[in-house]
Amino acid sequence: MAIFIETTEDGSPTAHFNEFEQERMHHSGGAFGETVYIYGPAIQYAFSKTENPCVLSLGTGLGYNEMLSCAFGLLFEQEFTLHSYEASDALNSSLKSWVFDEEPGEISFSVYNKILNLTANVFDIPEVEIKYLLRKKLQDGSWILHGAFDLPKFRYHAILYDFFSRKAMEKFWTEEYLTEFFNIASMDPCAVATYACTGPLKRALKANYFEFIERKGYLWKRTSTFARRSESSYHRKV
Ligand SMILES: C[S@@+](CC[C@H](N)C(=O)[O-])C[C@H]1O[C@@H](n2cnc3c(N)ncnc32)[C@H](O)[C@@H]1O
Repeated sequence: MAIFIETTEDGSPTAHFNEFEQERMHHSGGAFGETVYIYGPAIQYAFSKTENPCVLSLGTGLGYNEMLSCAFGLLFEQEFTLHSYEASDALNSSLKSWVFDEEPGEISFSVYNKILNLTANVFDIPEVEIKYLLRKKLQDGSWILHGAFDLPKFRYHAILYDFFSRKAMEKFWTEEYLTEFFNIASMDPCAVATYACTGPLKRALKANYFEFIERKGYLWKRTSTFARRSESSYHRKV
């Protein structure tokens, strides 16, 4: 399937799979800005509450959340584990080729270089440090690029739930699926972030003892979700 790259309003790239496809990977107002706004707080929460956080990125896409996680790892000077899941082999192999400076895949290196540049600038970290950390983590197995996701096999301190919308990925947004998902995937402490804010999502989080915090959505979107569960709420639960 062909992958089309477009530039969003803050100058950062986004992708979609079909020329006529409505489903875009990011907000047209800014892919980078949206990533930092929506997912930054959950990654920060995990790093600030635990020594060696485990982060789950669904789905990997162009790797915005992977670069953002490495930036936080460098700022906090902490080790961390990162599990990224992506159904598109082309996206997975393109990202890997860029990380290892191998023959470019379907996505041009300039796309990843732009995301790296924006991430490095906003956190005032040299680009080379973020890229080196990505490479090191892929090599030592503390970052794993998985294929398509179904149900979680591990537990995490930060869950970055960035799947396509309910229209495109219905099963992943049902209350039944989400309730089971959070039950299996969340560690204590844990933070969950997503651009979406729906009734089934709120109920699934509450059923799993998360404190649900409704945030304004990015730019002109109405709402988004941040939720957290501390160690003490876990103890109340058992
Ligand atoms: C909204 S985009 C994610 C954007 C991404 N976070 C980034 O930084 O660019 C959703 C991604 O989920 C992927 N996807 C769709 N179904 C999936 C599945 N079952 N498992 C893993 N990834 C999936 C899509 O291919 C797409 O890249």
